[in-house]
Amino acid sequence: MTKIELQVGPDVCDILMGKPLGELSDELLRRAGKGTKVLIVVDEALARSYGMELSKKLLQKGLQAEILLIPSGESSKIYNVLATRSFERKSWLIALGGGVIGDLAGFAAATYLRGLSFVQVPTTLLAQVDASIGGKTAVDIPQGKNLVGAFYQPKIVWIDPHLLKTLPKRQWQTGAAEVIKYGAIWDLALFKLLEKQIDYLMKGYSPAWNPIIARCAQIKAHIVQKDPRETKGLRALLNFGHSVGHAIEAATQYESYTHGEAISIGMFVAGLLSQQAGFLDAEERLRLGMLLRRAGLPSTVKKAIPRTRLMEFLARDKKVEKGAVKFVLLKGLGRAVSGQLVAPEDLDAALAASKL
Ligand SMILES: NC(=O)c1ccc[n+]([C@@H]2O[C@H](COP(=O)([O-])OP(=O)(O)OC[C@H]3O[C@@H](n4cnc5c(N)ncnc54)[C@H](O)[C@@H]3O)[C@@H](O)[C@H]2O)c1
Ligand SMILES: [Zn+2]
Repeated sequence: MTKIELQVGPDVCDILMGKPLGELSDELLRRAGKGTKVLIVVDEALARSYGMELSKKLLQKGLQAEILLIPSGESSKIYNVLATRSFERKSWLIALGGGVIGDLAGFAAATYLRGLSFVQVPTTLLAQVDASIGGKTAVDIPQGKNLVGAFYQPKIVWIDPHLLKTLPKRQWQTGAAEVIKYGAIWDLALFKLLEKQIDYLMKGYSPAWNPIIARCAQIKAHIVQKDPRETKGLRALLNFGHSVGHAIEAATQYESYTHGEAISIGMFVAGLLSQQAGFLDAEERLRLGMLLRRAGLPSTVKKAIPRTRLMEFLARDKKVEKGAVKFVLLKGLGRAVSGQLVAPEDLDAALAASKL
């Protein structure tokens, strides 16, 4: 069992990895006690498999577990169930699913009765290495994605990589984009390991993933602990590739690209900008591009996005100063700097290289 402790102010989040999903029931029995109400908010696709397995185990241990299946986006349902079933301050809420369920259930946990004890059980690669860690929760409103949210730390993040066995290929690729990002911004050894193993890794779950997932979770926890509210420029490093990536996602109504595909294109752009700034040499940039490609990730958009539209969304990303956009750039592989102002003509050239 790997344990990573993440402390933010008075809140302690234990990231636990190495035990199967069912054993989460022992952990909860120890912490919450018999009879405690537990709501499992579960991704529609996983309710019958992992959802049933977990609720059965919790019931066997004497906890009052219920399952709530959430069609994406419907956060109000969670409040309805919590209220009609008399959930109390000492009740627990478990998010069992990918980042979508985690963000949504996390927000409900943060706000219902001003905070229920919360557990994240991430079931996608992206959620295991990124979304479940760090305490960002959010709901979408018609005016935009993630506009309403809260920082709220789960008590436990339960990472069981075996849950990824059923993950479709496109979801592996989107998670791999974040994994490659950690190597590029923080850990050259991880980057080199990925260069060695990526073809094998992309075939799906194998134990070779375990140390990689653990390392990514550890990097994320470390960065969040040092800069929990993204005020010191450190947590901002995690946004490498994300300014352009978010703009691509938003400009295409979140329909054409997964998050990982969009940030892959964003990392290609940011890699080129890093080279133009003299921070990254041509060979290092090619290595980054090659690794993303080998993971099945794109370097260019499949359909043109009007430049004015893209720039509109880039400008909304809060990272624009006097017409110049601020970027996270690489200073060699394994190191990054945030807040780098890029001249419009450099940005123009880098975007054009990705057909943007
Ligand atoms: N809070 C944060 O810090 C943070 C960070 C990154 C991303 N996010 C958010 O996370 C979301 C993306 O998360 P995601 O990529 O996990 O997507 P997701 O939650 O939509 O899951 C992707 C798909 O995989 C399916 N799925 C999930 N687990 C599965 C499994 N084990 N087997 C088979 N199918 C499975 C789901 O049903 C879904 O169709 C975005 O909304 C993003 O904003 C949040
Ligand atoms: Zn991301």
